[in-house]
Amino acid sequence: MFADRVLSGMRPTGSLHLGHYHGVLKNWVVMQQEFECLFFVADWHALTTHYDTPQIIEQNVWDMVIDWLAAGVDPARATLFIQSRVPEHAELHLLLSMITPLGWLERVPTYKDQQEKLSDKDLGTYGFLGYPLLQSADILIYRATHVPVGEDQVPHIEFTREIARRFNHIYGREPGFEEKAEAAVKKLGSKKARLYAELRARFQEQGDDAALESAKSLLDEQQSLSMGDRERLFGYLEGGGKMILSEPEAMLTAASKMPGLDGQKMSKSYNNTITLREDEASVTKKIRTMPTDPARVRRTDPGTPEKCPVWPLHQVYSSEDTKQWVQRGCTTAGIGCLECKQPVIDAVLEEQKPMRERAQQYLDDPTLVRNIIADGCEKARRLAGETMRDVREAMGLSYS
Ligand code: TRP
Ligand code: SF4
Repeated sequence: MFADRVLSGMRPTGSLHLGHYHGVLKNWVVMQQEFECLFFVADWHALTTHYDTPQIIEQNVWDMVIDWLAAGVDPARATLFIQSRVPEHAELHLLLSMITPLGWLERVPTYKDQQEKLSDKDLGTYGFLGYPLLQSADILIYRATHVPVGEDQVPHIEFTREIARRFNHIYGREPGFEEKAEAAVKKLGSKKARLYAELRARFQEQGDDAALESAKSLLDEQQSLSMGDRERLFGYLEGGGKMILSEPEAMLTAASKMPGLDGQKMSKSYNNTITLREDEASVTKKIRTMPTDPARVRRTDPGTPEKCPVWPLHQVYSSEDTKQWVQRGCTTAGIGCLECKQPVIDAVLEEQKPMRERAQQYLDDPTLVRNIIADGCEKARRLAGETMRDVREAMGLSYS
């Protein structure tokens, strides 16, 4: 019913690393070519857990936006903005809170998990409990159809879908809905009206999903319907009321397999990262001092790549030829470890080069970044405003 729109957010938790690049950002860069994309900095979400260190938020926000741009996120294609600069998110969060059962929030798995994981912090707060609902507001306010997220976030998307359904159920039933829907059916013209009624009956009476899909595409093709009638007809199809908020789908981002400097997954909490724009000397040093197969005490001791943290990096960065060279050289003590690491160092530096270059202009002239964000916020506010008009009206707050 609504055109494809991709939305995703990231909390500003410090410099991004190559794990973020391979796991998330490369994917954003691909998606911006194909879909309308909105990417935002979830600074309020950062405050739900880091409420006691507000001084780090601002720097993290700008660094992160520069990291996005460095990675190739293109402000001419995607809308980039900061959550707190679109206060409509907070308004929708508040309004949705009116219909959100506490039990739904308490049951979201990240609620208990994070409280246990971050046990040094008091997360028995109102804001933290509401984390998934704020995320729902982020998504629903743009009527996003697809939300790229990691596995851990899937329950939040599922929760968002339930909130959208509940909202539509409670507020989509405008007075005289059936009559208005029937009147809208007539406006389709007699042939299409008959087809719509038939498909609707097939779905409602026999659960025929293909009929539902056909009816939806029939509606998609109707240029002349008003927005209100469109929404009514979509809602009427599935038996509910008017569809005011639309249910998003999670777009699962493959779990980052990016290995860190110690063989574990790259993660800030393991202290094994290479940051996106880390300087060359530091990257070189980090890789040169990486641990290797402990069996290779001396240069003449043969080793086993599978027991070495450098090997997974070859899997990410090296050609088949290089990998064979590593296998042969390592197991026969034909090459030294520093020699083995050099192609990885070269490949990482090569990958980072365009990122460093793209970042440089923004570091030289920070107003460029400020302007990109200002434009993005303005665009986002306009889109958010459209949904909020419908939401306020549905909840009796339009005072016209
Ligand atoms: N909770 C997400 C995370 O930790 C960040 C986020 C906030 C988000 N709002 C969102 C992601 C909306 C997607 C859509 O990764
Ligand atoms: Fe690891 Fe390469 Fe040394 Fe073998 S040669 S132990 S794979 S660094």
